[in-house]
Amino acid sequence: MNRILIEFAHPAIQKSRINRQLIDMVKKLDYVTVNDLYENYPDFFIDVKKEQQLLLNHDIIIWHHPFYWYSAPAILIEWMDLVLEHGWAYGEHGRILEGKSVLSVISTGGRREVYSKEGRNQYTMNEFLVPFKQSANLCRMEYLPPFIVHGAHTIKNSEIDAYAVQYKKVLNILGRGDIDKIEMKKAAYFNDLIE
Ligand SMILES: Cc1cc2nc3c(=O)[nH]c(=O)nc-3n(C[C@H](O)[C@H](O)[C@H](O)COP(=O)(O)O)c2cc1C
Repeated sequence: MNRILIEFAHPAIQKSRINRQLIDMVKKLDYVTVNDLYENYPDFFIDVKKEQQLLLNHDIIIWHHPFYWYSAPAILIEWMDLVLEHGWAYGEHGRILEGKSVLSVISTGGRREVYSKEGRNQYTMNEFLVPFKQSANLCRMEYLPPFIVHGAHTIKNSEIDAYAVQYKKVLNILGRGDIDKIEMKKAAYFNDLIE
C-alpha cells in the first residue's frame, strides 16, 4: 500500500461538522497518518525537521482543511512556508519530494455552482487552487484533482455521512495505487471519479 500523510488544518475542530466527521472516518486506517497541525502546533512553532521526515516517510500527501478566504487556514500556509524549503523541496538541488502526489481535501461554505465563471465567486475551485497545484508542481509532485465537499451551511447530516464514506474510498484507491491516470487528468474533482 502507498503510505498516506494527511496534513489536517482546522482551527476550531470542536465546532466542525464536516471535517471532524471526515477525519474520524479515516484516521484509523493503517496506511494513513493524520498530522493535526493545530493540535500539534497551537503556538505555530512548527518543527521543520520532524515535518520533513514525515513527508519522506509517505508517498501521498493530503492537504485537508476547510476553505478559508479562498485558501487554507493560516497554519497550513505557515507549514508550506517553513517545511517546503529551497534546496530541499524545490530549486536546482531540491528534488527530494519528486514522484510523490498531493491531494487537496476541502470543504466550502459555497455550493458547487457558485464556484464558476457565472457564479457568485466568479472562479472555479481549480482556479482558486492554482497556488497549491503549482507549489506541488514546483516540488516535482503530482497534484491530483481535489476532493471537495461544497455547501457547508446547508448540508444535511446524511450527506456528510455519504462524503465521509467517499473519503474513505478515495484513500483506499490512493493507498492501492488504483488510479486511471488518463481519467484522472480529465476530472475536475476527485469526487467525479468515484461512486
Ligand atoms: C474565516 C473563515 C473563512 C471562510 N472563507 C470561506 C471561503 O472563502 N469560501 C467558502 O466557500 N467558505 C468559506 N468559509 C466557510 C467554511 O469553508 C465552512 O464553514 C467550512 O468548510 C465548514 O467545515 P467544518 O464543518 O468542518 O467547520 C469560511 C469560514 C471561515 C470561518
